Amino acid sequence: MAVGVFDSGLGGLTVLRALERRLPDVPFVYYADSAHAPYGVRAANDIFELTCTAVERLWDEDCDLVVLACNTASAAALRRMQESWLPRDKRVLGVFVPLIEALTERRWGDNSPPREVRVNNVALFATPATVASRAFQRELAFRAIGVDVEAQACGGVVDAIEEGDMILAEALVRSHVDALRRKMPTPQAAILGCTHYPIMEEIFRDALGPGVEVYSQADLVGESLADYLQRHPGMVGEGEAKFLTTGDPRRVSGQATQFLRRRIPFQQA
Ligand code: DGL
Repeated sequence: MAVGVFDSGLGGLTVLRALERRLPDVPFVYYADSAHAPYGVRAANDIFELTCTAVERLWDEDCDLVVLACNTASAAALRRMQESWLPRDKRVLGVFVPLIEALTERRWGDNSPPREVRVNNVALFATPATVASRAFQRELAFRAIGVDVEAQACGGVVDAIEEGDMILAEALVRSHVDALRRKMPTPQAAILGCTHYPIMEEIFRDALGPGVEVYSQADLVGESLADYLQRHPGMVGEGEAKFLTTGDPRRVSGQATQFLRRRIPFQQA
């Protein structure tokens, strides 16, 4: 049994890289819904349907546990999937929980009243659908007080990355950071709230300047999955690692190989 890792496209590879580093013995099956990327401009219902289809395809690969390595799906679809769709013997985890745990300095199940935390001004860079969901602010507000979150919907960045147009992606990142700074001149921390954005992390860091702490969602998700698998060892076993895409495998393999700097052979989903 392998662990499924899902994203609309290439962004989840930034999470996969951290998962492989943290859990080198776990076989992962990666699924990129490249034919339908980007998700970030879609309606919540559409994101729900597409994510369910992808997760079902990962069940065919014997993945009873699937990580949604996609903030957009985690924000717009995960709760509905868990509440009304997921069979009892399957699990789907998102990428939000570890991030909120890190920011609020407490475990997810800690239901004590919200309290003050170290970071008060947070810049959230995410897709339009993630920003519109307000999922991040909602979860934060349950647990922390006095945290000001300024969200910037980074239109176009995912499309540019998926197209391999890194010059456009860089220009867009810089203009989104400028737009954020006009609303919040001195953020203490920045969340790259889309798994595609770490591909542009150096540009984000450069545009934000040295005083801003950038949270690494991928590493946090790696720690969190390691902890989960220790508590649920039956969710993983022998299995074959592979990469699936709904897009053109040759093209997607080429882009992925460039981003991860190692050969990533995608096959048709
Ligand atoms: N990488 C995804 C995320 O974390 C999806 C981006 C998109 O498809 O728009 O939000």
